[in-house]
Amino acid sequence: MRQNAWPYPAIVAHRGGGSLAPENTLAAIDKGAEFGHKMIEFDAKLSLDGEIFLLHDDTLDRTSNGWGVAGELSWEKLIMLDAGSWFGRPFANERLPLLEQVAARCRGYDMMANIEIKPTTGLAQETGRAVALAARALWQGMTPPLLSSFEYDALVAAKEAAPELARGYLLHEWIDDWQEKAEALQCVSLHFNHSILTQERVAAVKQAGLRILVYTVNDPRRAKTLLDWGVDAICTDRIDLIGPDFNA
Ligand code: G3P
Ligand code: CA
Repeated sequence: MRQNAWPYPAIVAHRGGGSLAPENTLAAIDKGAEFGHKMIEFDAKLSLDGEIFLLHDDTLDRTSNGWGVAGELSWEKLIMLDAGSWFGRPFANERLPLLEQVAARCRGYDMMANIEIKPTTGLAQETGRAVALAARALWQGMTPPLLSSFEYDALVAAKEAAPELARGYLLHEWIDDWQEKAEALQCVSLHFNHSILTQERVAAVKQAGLRILVYTVNDPRRAKTLLDWGVDAICTDRIDLIGPDFNA
């Protein structure tokens, strides 16, 4: 068994398991559970009237039968959309899920959540605060979720609203002041696009006492290399190829 001080499962089902079911839906979370996954990543944002729901993009076009900016619609409009047919006919009944529905699924499956705060443009602080407060309330009695975001301001707001919830800062590109940023946010982890990492960079981040999650790794050989370098968690769409016991 590979030793790993990361307190969470090392394999994370990305967007619920987005290669086998429509991403960021309850069907995707069910699929992750079916394959035995114990940690799940998903994207959370605000509706116009302040409901927190799951969606990756700013707009509805790619993953639903709606169109335009999702955050400009109220929940009563969003709930009417078909969020599954784009992926395949068997998923035609899927709806955009509310965060509270996802929390109930995590409770039922005893699954840990990595909630990515994915604000509509211009709403970073508002979304960070709302998601952190909702996560604190909804995840009571469960393993607390890990909050993450590419948006620095969203994590600042999350830290102020619910400082006790762990935070991870997401990075598409390497930045030289990663340590200062992580310290300011009091992050437990940095979440990197795996393609920007080298063994030396992994060692430096680990030396600073931070954990490393990488996204989105769908090649088992690449996943193995990253784990050998000391990466703590792998976020994958290929929940079938990179299973929960992959690093055992
Ligand atoms: O949280 C890791 C990963 O999900 C970040 O990228 O674009 O898939 O949200 P993206
Ligand atoms: Ca994400």
